[in-house]
Amino acid sequence: MKASLFSGPVVGLFASLLLNRPVLAANNTDPDPPTLPLSSTSNFNFNFLVGLSNALSGGADIGPILGVAQKTQAAPGDFPFYTAAFHELALETKAQAEDPDNAFDPINVRDAWFSTAHYFRRADEVNHRNWSNPQINSFWEEQTAAFNKGLAALPIPAQRIQIPAREDNFTIEAIWYAASESNSTKLPTLIIGNGLDAAQEDSYHHFVAHALLRGWNCITYEGPGQPTVRRTQNLGFIPEWERVVTPVVDYVLSEKAHVVDTDRLVLLGNSFGGYLAGRAAAFEPRLSAVIMIGGPWDAYAGFTTQLPSELLPIYEAGNYTQFDDTVLSLREAGELPPDAAWGLDYGLWAMKTHSPSEFFNLTKQYRLDDVADRIEMPVFIADAEFEFVSKGQGQRVADAIGPNAQRHLFNGTAGYHCQTGAYQELTRTMHAWLHKTLGKGQGRSKSA
Ligand SMILES: *[C@@H]1O[C@H](CO)[C@@H](O)[C@H](O)[C@H]1NC(C)=O
Ligand SMILES: *[C@@H]1O[C@H](CO)[C@@H](O)[C@H](O)[C@H]1NC(C)=O
Ligand SMILES: *[C@@H]1O[C@H](CO)[C@@H](O)[C@H](O)[C@H]1NC(C)=O
Ligand SMILES: *[C@@H]1O[C@H](CO)[C@@H](O)[C@H](O)[C@H]1NC(C)=O
Ligand SMILES: *[C@@H]1O[C@H](CO)[C@@H](O)[C@H](O)[C@H]1NC(C)=O
Ligand SMILES: *[C@@H]1O[C@H](CO)[C@@H](O)[C@H](O)[C@H]1NC(C)=O
Ligand SMILES: *[C@@H]1O[C@H](CO)[C@@H](O)[C@H](O)[C@H]1NC(C)=O
Repeated sequence: MKASLFSGPVVGLFASLLLNRPVLAANNTDPDPPTLPLSSTSNFNFNFLVGLSNALSGGADIGPILGVAQKTQAAPGDFPFYTAAFHELALETKAQAEDPDNAFDPINVRDAWFSTAHYFRRADEVNHRNWSNPQINSFWEEQTAAFNKGLAALPIPAQRIQIPAREDNFTIEAIWYAASESNSTKLPTLIIGNGLDAAQEDSYHHFVAHALLRGWNCITYEGPGQPTVRRTQNLGFIPEWERVVTPVVDYVLSEKAHVVDTDRLVLLGNSFGGYLAGRAAAFEPRLSAVIMIGGPWDAYAGFTTQLPSELLPIYEAGNYTQFDDTVLSLREAGELPPDAAWGLDYGLWAMKTHSPSEFFNLTKQYRLDDVADRIEMPVFIADAEFEFVSKGQGQRVADAIGPNAQRHLFNGTAGYHCQTGAYQELTRTMHAWLHKTLGKGQGRSKSA
């Protein structure tokens, strides 16, 4: 991918589309970033913040992430370069994890393997353009194997679980994390799901580690379109997310009933997963509360904001062939800004279509319009000052849900999409809301 927007052989339609649009800077620099930028490419900056944040819970070290940031300065917006830099870090860290001297205690084991797993995930992030690229699966097999070594070395080893979807043909991939060794203490429990791209393994670092310390059990899950299910079952996203969450709730209330406080069973959805959680909650009265981090109201409205504005009218005019040809040619020529290029590469793969117009068609099914008024439990909406995907949508979600919803605007340095870079503030705020809303104190103080 080229570093400069205008360096490619831009001709005809594309030239006229682009030359009027200097905003399409290849580096996508945030105009007024709340933190020191770690890259001139905003989606790299965002990924480095994700990377640094994982250090809070043993999923990264600071220096190595900043080291990749430094290397990629030579190649802003260059996805293969970024991928290679993280791949190299993943292999170096894996070699450290495999050193027999490392295995002497479980803390060494989980730090080294969780970090290895995470660096493979970071390498995967911008590597979805070519579906035949064998790294899409090989990096994932590496991250899964590494992460499993970390799971086994936790103080209470976590358990991978496959949950068959009741009336469907897919299997939900989940991980159960118990907060207590006791087999009879009923503890509050979080059910955690992501959105378009993050993996359930990321959720350990973003939410689970912080919740376990507070005495909450956790179960993370992935459904169709999400990283492991997309790969192993070859399934793209489905809008009716209750088909995924209801079987998870069934599992928790049957298999884990002896350790779950059913008055504090909470669904958390992250990013596009905010929509997914809201949708599922409308059909799942057994949930005590819902947390939507990023509160997408309408996926079509959110994803189209990532499109250069000249392209949307072509789609909306209904010339789908012209739209697909234009978008794919711009991508091929390296002329899409990195945020749009990433969204296109990853979005097509996750929705399992090669057609940009079909992608946008599909996103229209993901909206809370028809179901928001059926959400009857308390809802916490984490909104962000610098939201770039669902800007302005958090308030709409709150308005549609009504008095049960509380929207919290994270601003300043906690104001990135999903509070990336400020997971401590996010989890503090979220647990304070849970405490206030569901009462009974947090898990540990209440248990016994
Ligand atoms: C980003 O791109 C713009 C336009 O090409 C350029 O003026 C600006 O200096 C770049 N910013 C950085 C931080 O590289
Ligand atoms: C995609 O990857 C496959 C496997 O590495 C390769 O054979 C093919 O040429 C690649 N396609 C493109 C368009 O780069
Ligand atoms: C499950 O798969 C079978 C066989 O492929 C198909 O006939 C059926 O419609 C599928 N059911 C659902 C709910 O997708
Ligand atoms: C915990 O209790 C459940 C339900 O009573 C039982 O199925 C399970 O075997 C018990 N596990 C242990 C480790 O005792
Ligand atoms: C769609 O766009 C293509 C390319 O610009 C053009 O040739 C074709 O006539 C258009 N089709 C319609 C139905 O407008
Ligand atoms: C997108 O939706 C429109 C309108 O329903 C339809 O005509 C078109 O064929 C769809 N495009 C694709 C690629 O599915
Ligand atoms: C963030 O919001 C708080 C409360 O609304 C306000 O006092 C503070 O000035 C805001 N900070 C920034 C950086 O916008």
